[in-house]
Amino acid sequence: MTNKTPIAVVILAAGRGTRMKSKRPKVMHRIAGRPMISWLIETAEELNPEKIIVVTAPDMDDVAEVIAPHARVIQKTQSGTGDAVKPALELLKDFDGKVLVLLGDEPFLDKIALEQMIATGGISVMAMTPESSTGFGRMVVRADGSLEKIVEEKDCSDEERQIDLCNAGNFCIPASHLEKWLSALGNDNAQKEYYLTDIPNIAEKDGFKTQVIEAECDGFWGINSRLELACHEALAQDMLRAQAMDNGVTLIAPATVTFNWDTKIGQDVVIEANVIFAAGVTIEDDVRILGFSYIEESHIESGATIGPFARLRPKTRIGAKAKVGTFVEVNRSTIEAGAKAPHLSYLGDVTIGAKTNIGAGTIFANYDGFFKHKSTVGENVFIGSNTTLISPVKIGDGAMLAAGSNINKDVPDHAMAIGRSRQENHEGWATQYRKFKQAEKNKV
Ligand code: UD1
Ligand code: CA
Repeated sequence: MTNKTPIAVVILAAGRGTRMKSKRPKVMHRIAGRPMISWLIETAEELNPEKIIVVTAPDMDDVAEVIAPHARVIQKTQSGTGDAVKPALELLKDFDGKVLVLLGDEPFLDKIALEQMIATGGISVMAMTPESSTGFGRMVVRADGSLEKIVEEKDCSDEERQIDLCNAGNFCIPASHLEKWLSALGNDNAQKEYYLTDIPNIAEKDGFKTQVIEAECDGFWGINSRLELACHEALAQDMLRAQAMDNGVTLIAPATVTFNWDTKIGQDVVIEANVIFAAGVTIEDDVRILGFSYIEESHIESGATIGPFARLRPKTRIGAKAKVGTFVEVNRSTIEAGAKAPHLSYLGDVTIGAKTNIGAGTIFANYDGFFKHKSTVGENVFIGSNTTLISPVKIGDGAMLAAGSNINKDVPDHAMAIGRSRQENHEGWATQYRKFKQAEKNKV
């Protein structure tokens, strides 16, 4: 057991995020398919805090849902980052450690800097030197390196605006003084808001110097606009691609592959260009995902081949060494080991047995306009091309369905089913027809 100072994390997420121009709370916008606040919560959890408290506006129940089981408190009116910390005080009454205040719109924090902040005595603030300091508070540092003040851009003099060192927004504050310092905040500034950034000045009067901890920022810090959201998405995708390759996945054209935060991929999987993974995909070893495939909530077993241009929709399982080929859509279905659907098919609400072969243009008509119906196809079945199976039907093991059939009755094991109109050949008919039509045309 270590006897480190206990930590409580307070995450500010009550702001409206007006610059996003969205009906949704800013922190609910997704990065690699996951709300940005969930990324931050994950980092906060890694610090082993005693508690995590998230501050939201009253109408943000959706945020409360994604941060559960962590606590949520409400800031009634959004009057600044300093004011936003106040509602958390009720849950910090008996807490006697350090309070780490984080901004909910900064999903990718530098964990090393956070640990340094926690290890620092007194209070600390995270600083950074971004490519452009536009929009950030500026850190005014004295000759001895101590922090004089933080000035919001809107309150900056021309000289202060030239400062490169910016406020990353995160503070570590002793819980013992938090309430006192928060209640001393004023709102005499350009935005008429209670700024958390005024805490260092107030603390200094009580003899506390604020330590400035510099963080790596790589040009990505804070999301205030859709453009910044897209920049963070790009960063997340690069991280996920690097992680996949580190784990033994070959990406032929990494920049074109889109992962979801929860995509799980085994060893020696090869992924070609322009593949998209939505939520809930797990892939075992030695699978090949060919170009332009879109895969969602599916499990793919070892050695299977998917695509090119395949679409796997939710609740799908593809068995070992099975093949789902060009322009094949699979939805809520299981394709057992070694089965093949190489081209142009819709397999919805169906179980396909092992080693069954599905011809081009096979459609399971699973929807009657009101209900979805399920079908099962046994092992080693052969389905001829352009066959429509009107669900629910059950096709027995080893059966054969003739190409072009409409199948709406069960087929026993090892039977052949043919469900199409009979062909008639009329000798010489085409020649006669052409002669007749040409004569008609010549008259016009
Ligand atoms: C803030 C800092 C700025 C810093 C920047 C870094 C202040 C006053 N400014 O500016 O110095 O450079 O972050 O990204 O702290 N929030 C609330 N309630 C409120 C207001 C804000 O919960 O009343 C939350 C927001 O939801 C957001 C976070 O606090 O998650 C930051 O608010 P935002 O308005 O984005 O601050 P910035 O202008 O970016
Ligand atoms: Ca911000």
